[in-house]
Formats: sequence, structure tokens, C-alpha cells
Amino acid sequence: MAGGPEWGFLLPPSIPHNEPMNSTAKGSLWHDIVTQGVQRVVDGISDQEAMEMNEQYGTHNYKPLPVNVVRGEGARVWDGDGKEYIDCIGAYSAVAHGHLSPRVVDAMVNQLKEVAVTSRAFYSPEVGLFLKGLCEYAGLDRACPMNTGAEAIETCIKLARKWGYTVKGVPKDQAEIIVCENNFHGRTTTIVGFSTEEDYKQFFGPYTPGFKVVPFGDIGALKAAITPNTIGFLAEPIQAEGGILIPPDGYLTQVREVCNANNMLLIWDEIQTGFCRTGYRFAWQYESGAEPDLMAVGKPLGGGLLPVSAALGKNHVMEVFKPGDHGSTFGGNPLGSVVALAALAEMEEEDYAGRSKRLGDLAVDYLNNMGLPHVKEVRGRGLLIGVEVNDNVDSKALSAALVSRGILTKETRKRTFRLTPPIMISEELLMDALGRVKDAIASV
Ligand SMILES: Cc1ncc(COP(=O)(O)O)c(C=O)c1O
Repeated sequence: MAGGPEWGFLLPPSIPHNEPMNSTAKGSLWHDIVTQGVQRVVDGISDQEAMEMNEQYGTHNYKPLPVNVVRGEGARVWDGDGKEYIDCIGAYSAVAHGHLSPRVVDAMVNQLKEVAVTSRAFYSPEVGLFLKGLCEYAGLDRACPMNTGAEAIETCIKLARKWGYTVKGVPKDQAEIIVCENNFHGRTTTIVGFSTEEDYKQFFGPYTPGFKVVPFGDIGALKAAITPNTIGFLAEPIQAEGGILIPPDGYLTQVREVCNANNMLLIWDEIQTGFCRTGYRFAWQYESGAEPDLMAVGKPLGGGLLPVSAALGKNHVMEVFKPGDHGSTFGGNPLGSVVALAALAEMEEEDYAGRSKRLGDLAVDYLNNMGLPHVKEVRGRGLLIGVEVNDNVDSKALSAALVSRGILTKETRKRTFRLTPPIMISEELLMDALGRVKDAIASV
């Protein structure tokens, strides 16, 4: 698809951006799209043009790698020049099934012959089956379907607060939720307000009150922060965006015990760690007796095709919601439900948990034995792996070295390169990727 002569629709710089173009004018963007169809126009866009359009018309809230992905299949993607890459980021763990998993695509295409979006103003067999299937998969009682991870977290916060006031009896507007340093739960104003990463929160205040921050993995600090108004503890079982930080053994169970002892809810954010990413259906299952009252899930639940998320929990919390308390136009629609069910079916049939554990162990073993002085630490559970490089390694140069070797990944918190490929990646392709990672690190 390199270079398309017919497309001539980029606004010339002389046209003010705030004036809408005549949609029918020949040579305009909309003329081309209407007459040629979207796909044909897309096919005519070169890599360079795509990057320029993204930069010119998008806000700069991301800093993408200079790779223009035009096609994906399984664990590989291609740019417009046909260069192949191994996807080692998997859309921040959302693409566990690989790109365009045939089973999930088939389910989606079939559903598109029936009905796609109804809203929850009505009942739907697909949504009903999705809720039942998800609850059975997770061993929890009820689910509130949403779309993005941040919405699932917001839903958990609302459920916990209403539980706090109506069940625990906390005085009005005094409810407190304890969260962890280095947390990442999404990007809404409430959520960034309790982030400890200055870049995520600066200029977005005033922040929502009612959150207390304690160090992750420190059970003593959690105990010390509890007051009679504490309604819950919200944390990721492994902090992914925080740099793939794994808590000390025993922490997950101890957290549950502390919540029991203080009549507070345990809320696990499994949006990134859930659905087999760490070698278990959910990362809290690494320890026994760490089951949540509430859990947020998302990302791979959409099978790599759609945003599908949910807040799940036990009846004693979930039943506090009454009609009107919460909602989302797209949350819980037939199309997303069918996609999620097909995604869950594939995870089960292909034993994603076992696969993630086996491949993750292989990868961590390989990375630990590379013998490169550049590496400070390799942390991982299943296929959620972080390679932290030493301070003297130029991480920008390493990023470029990885891209030039056909490896797509990004660093999190500056020095930790994440390896979170699709869980369906073959062992052979994974080992190929690891060889290239080693080569890239050795080159900087
Ligand atoms: C642990 C965790 N929670 C919440 C989110 C937010 O999810 P979303 O980007 O879908 O809103 C993310 C996204 O990376 C995440 O990793």
C-alpha cells in the first residue's frame, strides 16, 4: 500500500482548521471517502502520510513508536512497506488472542447478522449469557458490564462507596478507599487524582477526595492506614504499568485477612493481569484465600476486537445498585457480549493459563541467562514480563534498536521494557523474539 496517488484530501495549511470543508468538493477528504469507500482511501495512504495525519489532527497524549501498522495476524503485524514485526506489547495486554483471532472474528461476524447494539434499556440473550458466563468463569455472583478498564474501576468505586454508606454505615461523604503507590487504574479525573505519577495527574485537579495511598506490598502500612471509615482496598495483584512489580509472597492472602478483620472490601484490578496473563485465570489466584469482593476486568475480554470490561463481585456488594445508580450506553451490548464469550471460550479451550505459565517461564529463564550487564532485573509471572535495564542504558536507543529488529514493545516507567506478547504466540516465535531482544540490548 505504499504511496497512493489518488488521495489528495489532507487540508492544505492555508485552510483554517476551524472551517468545515465543503464535503462534496472534488479532491476533498469526504469526496474521496464517499465515492471510493473508506477501505480504498485507507489503502492509498503511505506510512509517512499516516504518521503525519495522526500527528497533525490528533492530540499529542501519546508518543507512538514510528511504526505504521496496517495489518495484523496472530502475534505479528506489518507496516505499509511490508516490514514484519513481532508484537511484544499486545495492545497493553488487550490482544491476548493475537490479532484477528479466527474464532472471535467468526463469532463477531455471525452476530453482525443478528443485532449489535441495543443498550440495556432492553433484555438480550447474548448479554444474559455473557453475564452468566463471565460470573461462572470468575467464580463471582454478578457483573456490571462496561467498555473500558477505567469505567470498570469507576464502577467498582461507586459500588464500594454505596456499600460503605448503605451497608457498613459510614457517615455521608466520609468513605475512604486505600490504594497503592505506583498504581495504575486508568485515566479519569477521579482515578488520576490518586495516582502517584506526577505526569498522570498534574493539571487535572481538583482531585476527588476519599483515597489514601500506601506502599504496594507493605501489609503493615495498609493496616496502619485503616480508619472506621475505610470501605475498601483497591490494588493490582501485580503492578503492570508501575514496572511489572510483584508483591512479596503472602501479601495477597494477608490483604484478604486484613479486609475481613476490618469489614472492608477487597477490590482487585485485574484489567491487565486477568484472563490468564500471569499463568492463572486471575493473578490473585497465585495465592490461596485472596479472592476479591469486587474485581475489575477488561482488555482481553474483548478478544482483541472490541472494548469490553466489567465490574464483578459478590452479591452482598453488587446488590446495592438500584436502577438509575449507574450505566453506560454501550456497556453490555449483544456484539461485545458474543465477542467476550468467544474470547473466554478460546482461553479455556487453548488453555491460555497453562500456556502463559509455560511460555512465561521459558522467557524469564532465557532473559535471566542472557549474560548481559545492561540488565538490572527481569520480573515476570506468566507472559507479563518486564526487563529493567541499568541506568546507563539509553532507553530511547534501545527502543529504536528493538524496532529496527522487528520487535514492538514500549518501556513502562522509563527503564522497564515490557514483554506482553499475545498469549497465543508460538514457542518458536517467542524464542525468535527473545533472540532479537537480546541482540538489541547487546547493541546499545
Ligand atoms: C491495571 C489497569 N487498570 C486499568 C487500566 C485502564 O484501562 P483502560 O485503558 O481500558 O481504561 C489499565 C490500562 O492499562 C490497567 O493496566
